[in-house]
Amino acid sequence: MPTEYIKIFDTTLRDGEQSPGCSMTLEEKVRMAHQLAKLNVDIIEAGFPIASQGDFDAVHRIAQEVRGPVIAGLARATSGDIIRCAEALVPATKKRIHTFISSSDIHLKYQFKKSREEVLKDTEMAVGLAKKHAEDVEFSAMDATRSDWDYLAKMFQVAIDCGATTLNVPDTVGYTVPSEFFDLISFLKSKLKMPSGVVLSVHCHNDLGLAVANSLAAVQAGARQVECTVNGIGERAGNASLEEIVMTLNVRKDKMTFVTGVKTEQIYPSSKLLSYITGINVQPNKAIVGDNAFAHESGIHQDGVLKHELTYEIMTPQSVGMPKNRLVLGKHSGRHAFRDRLVALGMPLEGSALESAFSAFKDLSDRKKNIYDEDIIALVEGQGMGETEKFRLESLHVVSGNRTTPEAIVEVMTEGNLKKDVQQGDGPVDAVFKALRKITGFEGSLDRYHVTAITGDTDAQGEVFVTLTDKGKTVRGSGAHTDIIMASAIAFLSAINRLEYYQARQGVRGI
Ligand code: KIV
Ligand code: ZN
Repeated sequence: MPTEYIKIFDTTLRDGEQSPGCSMTLEEKVRMAHQLAKLNVDIIEAGFPIASQGDFDAVHRIAQEVRGPVIAGLARATSGDIIRCAEALVPATKKRIHTFISSSDIHLKYQFKKSREEVLKDTEMAVGLAKKHAEDVEFSAMDATRSDWDYLAKMFQVAIDCGATTLNVPDTVGYTVPSEFFDLISFLKSKLKMPSGVVLSVHCHNDLGLAVANSLAAVQAGARQVECTVNGIGERAGNASLEEIVMTLNVRKDKMTFVTGVKTEQIYPSSKLLSYITGINVQPNKAIVGDNAFAHESGIHQDGVLKHELTYEIMTPQSVGMPKNRLVLGKHSGRHAFRDRLVALGMPLEGSALESAFSAFKDLSDRKKNIYDEDIIALVEGQGMGETEKFRLESLHVVSGNRTTPEAIVEVMTEGNLKKDVQQGDGPVDAVFKALRKITGFEGSLDRYHVTAITGDTDAQGEVFVTLTDKGKTVRGSGAHTDIIMASAIAFLSAINRLEYYQARQGVRGI
């Protein structure tokens, strides 16, 4: 059987970013987009330009500087959305406008309050207009899997006749099952008159935990593009996970004769970078990228793997870019070893960026004996946060214990001025947060405070995640330090900086 190519359409920066608590700053989106280009996905959906100025800017910047994949922007089937999307994509060398409208009667009746005929007219207008701005146009029929199949085919045919080059079949609410989805894709393949080069795509949500299985069934039925996200992030229960789709196709070539262009050794660095940026770690038993994905606990398994890896491993950790030796560097490691480790983690640095990361590494190695990959990622990523900082922690002094009232003295630099405050609290973290509230004027709520040790040992870096809400906007912040009170202060301030960033750009999510 000949091998066929499956396009990987990554929507981490659009659908993924819609996950609660996953919003990213402009700089973070650009950094992630560069990593997705390294991962060699075919298409990066960079955002939804009409949704906010921030989304527009992200799509525009990514279109300007990320080369390799096609850059796509999302637009509802309205002229305003499509024109805004086209404007954001202007600098891209390879661009795609992705326009969508619902096809299910449930959506038409309750959400759009439009007839089937009216929606067909919208489809015609939207694809026709998008085609004036981009050769490459994708059309999605939202809630396709709960739609009448004949109507769905009619809608796709209208889109094809108006010039759509990709027809996407979303399982928007994660409702379908593999056999049904296989039949739906087979039905569409047989029914649609598709000029050569026009591709059927699928976009599955994971509400029943079937997103990957449904996507693969669709591929077997003839879909040639899969929409997915790193770590499976996305609306509600998420989207199909990119790493699971790609590695299934890779490992089970015998059953599914398809290839993707993904550089699998960039999977782990992509997963790690995204977890760092969003502050959301994958569960330890997550397939492919979880901490335990390659950890053999039982004696029988360990014995087998020591004799030959293939006894209990269907793929190697190295094939997905997971470093074999997780304990990497320490006080005596030199610049060379540090640079090599950055390359292995998918974050090569040169020149002044390498120098400043190396000096931060040296600082850390004075405080911490063993430096793990997670420490290095945290450290390098921490370096990049400066661009959006309005408040920077200058100094922190805390007193705490069982015979004293916890107290914090905090100094913060903001726009060239040093601000100081002293507060008492129920504990040292409470005292620090009170002082930070006073200094920054933050009056919103602290919704979540979560501490984890990035690595083992008592000198481990503590990583703190906080979620803050102010005036209807929820953001998260993270901080890593060997002192968890320091990590808490850094996390709190990084969330406040994020709020400042969003408030300066005032945007509202569209869908
Ligand atoms: O889930 C969905 O239907 C979507 C569309 C916009 C493709 O995300
Ligand atoms: Zn979706």
